[in-house]
Order: sequence, then C-alpha cells, then structure tokens
Amino acid sequence: MKQTALDMQKKVDSQIESYKEVVASDPYRLHYHLMPPVGLLNDPNGFVCYQGKYHMFYQWNPFKTEHGAKFWGHYVSDDLVHWEEAPYALAPDSWFDKDGCYSGSAIVHDDKMFLFYTGNVKDEAGNRESYQCLAVSDDGVTFEKKGPVIQVPKGYTAHFRDPKVFHQDNQWYMVLGAQTEAEKGEAVLYSSSNLMSWNFKGTLTGSNHNGLDDFGYMWECPDLLQVDGKDILLVCPQGIQPKGFEFQNIFQSGYFAGNVNLDKATFEHGEFVELDRGFDFYAPQTTMDENGRQLLFGWMGNAEEADVIQPTVKHEWIHTLTIPRELEWKDGLLLQHPVHELKKLRKAEIAYKDVLLEVQGKTFEHVNGSVFELLVEPTEMKTEYFSIQIGNSTTISFDQTKEILTLEREKFNGKELEQRHYSLAKLHSLHIFKDTSSIELFVNDGEAVFSARIFDQGEDIVFNAVGPVRLDVTKWGLKRTTAY
Ligand code: FRU
Repeated sequence: MKQTALDMQKKVDSQIESYKEVVASDPYRLHYHLMPPVGLLNDPNGFVCYQGKYHMFYQWNPFKTEHGAKFWGHYVSDDLVHWEEAPYALAPDSWFDKDGCYSGSAIVHDDKMFLFYTGNVKDEAGNRESYQCLAVSDDGVTFEKKGPVIQVPKGYTAHFRDPKVFHQDNQWYMVLGAQTEAEKGEAVLYSSSNLMSWNFKGTLTGSNHNGLDDFGYMWECPDLLQVDGKDILLVCPQGIQPKGFEFQNIFQSGYFAGNVNLDKATFEHGEFVELDRGFDFYAPQTTMDENGRQLLFGWMGNAEEADVIQPTVKHEWIHTLTIPRELEWKDGLLLQHPVHELKKLRKAEIAYKDVLLEVQGKTFEHVNGSVFELLVEPTEMKTEYFSIQIGNSTTISFDQTKEILTLEREKFNGKELEQRHYSLAKLHSLHIFKDTSSIELFVNDGEAVFSARIFDQGEDIVFNAVGPVRLDVTKWGLKRTTAY
C-alpha cells in the first residue's frame, strides 16, 4: 500500500477508536441493523455475493455526521444477518474522486470483484465533474482503482452518477442516473463487452419520456432487474410534487414495471409506484444471490436538511440501512418480504391465538419492549377503527371505513406528530420489525412497507378497537448482532 493510503487508513481507524465509546453508549444505537461505526451513512452500494459471502458497502463520511467526501464502508456476512466490519474499500484520495467515491455497484467476473462508482470532483467555485470509475479486487478486501471508464456524454450535466452494472445476453450493461442539460431526470443505458470500454446506448426512460410529464429534475440510483420474469427499474426521482398520499418525502424512491429491450435501449412501462410508504427510505440496491433470490437493502434515511436534529448526532453517528428484504412480483405488484434468515434472531416467542379485542387500551403480557418482531393477523374485523400504539408516540392505525392505513410518529423535533398513509381495502397482517430507534412495517405480506426512524422511550404496546376484532398476535424478542 502507498504511504498516503496507509496514512488515510490510520486516520479512519483512529476516528473509529476515538469515538467507539461515545457511539456505543447511545441508547438509540440499533441492535440488528447495519450502521456506520462513526459518522454518516447513506446509500447501500456494491451489494454482491462473492466467494460464498455477502458483501455490503455503503456511502460513508467517517469524519462528520454530515454529507461530504464519501468513502465506501464495507461489511461482510455469511447469512445477511451477522455482519463483520471490513476495512473501507474506497477512499476519496484520487484526482477523479477527490470529493467523494459516490454510489455504485459490484459484479463478479473471473473470480474478481469489480466495483463501479462515481468519482465526484468539485473545483473551488463549486463546479462539479463526475467520472464513472472502476476498482478491482481479487480477495474482496483490498481494491485497486483503475480510474475513470466513462465521461459525461454530450447533452447531460455533471449530475450523472450511480452506475449499476449487470450481465445479460453475453453483454455487460450499466444503468446510470442522469440529468439532461434541460434539467430532466433520466435513467440511461451503456453496454460493454470487457468492462473497460463502454458504449452509450440511450435513454431507457425519464422525465418527458414514455408519457412521464415533468417527472423530476434528476434521477438517482437506478437499478434494473428481473423479478419473477418482470423487468423492474428501481429509481429515485428528485423534484416530484406531493399528490394525495403519494410522494410525501423530500425525494422519491420507487419502481416502474414493464418490458425492457436492452439492445434497443427501450423500456415500456407502467406508472411509478413508491417502494416504501414511510418517512425514511431511499436509494435501495438489489443483488441476486446464489439461490436466485432478488434481495434489497435501502438507506433508512432521506436527504433531509434536518439531519442534524436527529438525536444520534450527539453520539457522533447518523443513519442506518434497512433490514434485508426479498422481492417478489405478484399480481402486478412488487412485494417486499423480510428475508427468512432474520428468523435466526428470534428468541422468547409469545403467542396469543384468536383473541377477541373489544376494548380500548388492551395489552398482552410480555408483548412489549423496544427491540422485537411482532406479527398481528386479524381474522375478523367488525370495527371501524383499529390501532396499535408502540412506545410513547408511534401508532399504526387502520380506518376500515375510510380504507386508510396510517403510520404516525413524533417528528425529530420531539414536539409534533406526523403521518404517512396508504390506501388499503382489507387488512390481513401487520408484520413489524422494531429496533431501538427504527420501525419497519410490512403490510399484508409485503404489499406495502413503511420504514421510519423513531426516537422515543416507551416499551408498551397497546391495542385499541372500536368494535370487535379477532386477532392472532405473535411476538419475539430479537438478539443483538451489532458490536457497538
Ligand atoms: C443518493 C446520492 C447519490 C450519490 C450519493 C452521494 O442518496 O445522492 O446519488 O451518489 O448519494 O453520497
């Protein structure tokens, strides 16, 4: 390793070491989610299976709980549940990535791991340049940068980033997030036969394409995949106005389903559907594992200006990834399921079968806590309204008359409540993963998911109904996998 690289490694190690106790003493530190050891985490990157292990990289600023010149942090796992921290994979230490090794992806070829990422470069006046770069590893631990392989093509601004590479029909393909000079967001396609030289194929879809009128000024983090035979483009458009219950977060994360023709770079697709109905979800990334499952992690955050008021900041860290989810295409919807490996975390099962709930304020013995999995399955719902209050300030409610499911939490300012809604005709199941300061709610076996950070104290779980409801309720404690 070069001296400069060794110095940087030392600086990061000493940063982790210096803040280890401050970070570990945070009661909001999560028990089974992937978080930064110190500093800020955002997008999941380079999610891939390599030599029998899962590798997850992430956008990381080790030195501040703010965005900045990003590194690629690195975790490795045998089972998607227990993760070991590895040395960071990429540091912003080259002319082509000096202001950030931005998001990207990994593929495996010839038993080597190839990382594609965006080199972000800014000059003193704040002008931006971006380069799509390659780094290669033959052990999955150390990565050799090969430099830029793609420059921004004509007609696009320097908001050109987040390469996702995949293999199909004996070709390599890359989708990229882009902004045209007219400030329209697009997902563009490249192809390559050798991973080094890339040909621009065209715009797959974008704002003012395929009937999408003014659909955002920039599209970030595209991911093109097949789920149960359906072509799915995941993408994060910026600049979409709220509409009814939709598009309530600052930036959107969702998918288009349809039919791709890679050769012609065309994509006929339906409407944009939000992937997550909660407050904190963005920049998801998928990989297909060795069992053929399409797996997804998201960033449980979004580009809020209000990052600094998250209470974890005083403990020198911020943000987390979601739990791993498996994707399924069924009846015209992309379903998300918690991966079955998460069952390994379960302990102390407690089950109540076919209980009749007719009162407000019902609790069940041992159904409480701040870290748990809870499955609530209504078998009969003769009520207008049903709710579960979790802790002091988080409520999941179902208004059967109006057909609305709602997640309510306390705002990060600790003063007011805020809500996200989803239109739902019939409720079959609520599957909840609660960690100290997060909640992930899977509705009706993954038909809708709500992800949110929540910062409160209480450990009670209280059920309320206006008329009779019959329920099966199962709760598990969940083991801790994180070291600090
Ligand atoms: C999405 C994003 C990406 C970019 C990265 C920088 O959250 O803005 O487009 O590559 O974060 O950290």
